[in-house]
Order: sequence, then structure tokens, then C-alpha cells
Amino acid sequence: MAKFYRNEYIEGGELRIIKIDPVDISKYTTEIRENYLEGNLILIENYRPKLNLDIFNFPSLKLLDNKALIAGLEQPDEKGFYVKKATASQVARAVYSDKNASDELEKAMLQCDVEVAKLFLSLFRVPNKSLSLGSVSTWRITPTARENYHLDIYTNTVLRAFWNISEKPRSWGVGHKSSELIQKNIKALKEFIASKKSSGNTVDQGEINRFINSYTDNLERHKIEFYQYDLWLCDSVKVAHQIIGGDKVAAFSYVFQPGSLIREKIRRKLNYMDYIKAYIE
Ligand SMILES: [Fe+2]
Repeated sequence: MAKFYRNEYIEGGELRIIKIDPVDISKYTTEIRENYLEGNLILIENYRPKLNLDIFNFPSLKLLDNKALIAGLEQPDEKGFYVKKATASQVARAVYSDKNASDELEKAMLQCDVEVAKLFLSLFRVPNKSLSLGSVSTWRITPTARENYHLDIYTNTVLRAFWNISEKPRSWGVGHKSSELIQKNIKALKEFIASKKSSGNTVDQGEINRFINSYTDNLERHKIEFYQYDLWLCDSVKVAHQIIGGDKVAAFSYVFQPGSLIREKIRRKLNYMDYIKAYIE
């Protein structure tokens, strides 16, 4: 069961957290989809794909651990930060030196990835239309400490869900949606967009969110702790979030494959620039 800690001093904080029981997912696909599109967070507690989950009970790897470095888990990015992201096969090889165990772990990870992809397909598929998703999921198996309160800055549409596989809770700061954050500094944001346009440049969603992120970390926020096997779906370009602490987590991420067809009304809400249009005009 996830635990929510309300912050009395938050200003605004329009994010809604929608709890869905795992057995009710297929009953509430419309509610899940619409709330996801609106930038809310859908919490599915104790989500357990049908497989042996004991394989996930391995100790997390320490930062700068040799095994992690060998597996390519922690390559410093251009700013010198260590990126704690890895694919299933990298993680499996880093965790278990025994081949059978690492194969089993990799298989379990891929199976979970497919399960969550199916969940998203059930939300966005239109009968008789083609829809396929490509996985760009990562597994983060090193402890994470406090990061800033932010919106993600991808430049494309990625469907996202997070799954805590650690026995330790994963804590997030939450409370605001990007639609609300835009309003907090609308004048400056409009000026930023206008100055970009006047110099002949277009503004992409990454730049908009980078601008918003310059003032989000000063805001009060709630705290939520996700427990082992809690799965939460949220579009992290719309949902402001801060990792306060946590251990092992799967960050499921899916991109639409070419030829995928979704309803125009849905596409417009999914596409970040279309979604925020109403708030910046
Ligand atoms: Fe993030």
C-alpha cells in the first residue's frame, strides 16, 4: 500500500492520484487513459505479473560498484553525472554471475516489460487499427537520492510507468501538473516563446519544460511512498516529480512504432505541444 503525506503549504497542487485495483484494470481502461492524458497519476498497488517475483530479490548495486561499472550501468553523462539506467540484459548480468540465474532474471524483466506494454496497448488501441509499441524501458538498480522537483524533458511522446521492485519504499515529491506550472509563470514563458520565435527558432517540448523546471524546485509539494510491486502510470513530461529516495525500480517506457494509429482526439492530448496549447495561448 502506498502512503501519501499531504503538505499543507502547497499552493495549488492539482495532481490527482487515481487508485486502481490490479484486478479492475480492464474494467477501467477509459478512466486510466483519460487520467493519464490529463497528466494525473494512476496508482496500481501490488501489481504482480504471473511469474516468480523472487528473482527480483537481489541486493541493489552500490553506486560506482565494480560490477555495475562493468555492466555499463553507470556511464557518466556529458555533465559528469552517473546515469543509473540499464537494459534488462545489462542488469541481469551485473546482478547474477550464474548464467542460469541471470537468464531467468532477464526473462522475468522482459516478461514484465511485455505485460506493461500490453496494459498500455489496451488503453490506446482502436479496434481494427494497427498499434504497436517499442520498448525503451530501463531498470535502475542502484539507490537513488534526492533529485530536483521537475518535469521530464523528452522531445518525443513516451508512454511511461514505474514499478518499485525493491522492498524499500520509493519516495516521490508530487503535486503539480505542467498545465498548472505553466500558469505560475505564464508571462515569462510567453516572452520566452516569443523571443525564440522572433529569432526564427521553434520551441520544442524539452525547451518548454526546461524553462518550467527553472522555478519548480522552489515549490512546496506532497510526498508519496510507493511500496514493493506498486506500479504507477504517469506521463512524466506532464507530472512534476522528484525522486526523494528509492532503490530498485523499473522505468517502463514505450514509443509508438511507425504505422501506429490512435484516435485523433487522443493523439492531440498525448502530444505535449498540443496538450499545452490551451494553456499558453
Ligand atoms: Fe524525471
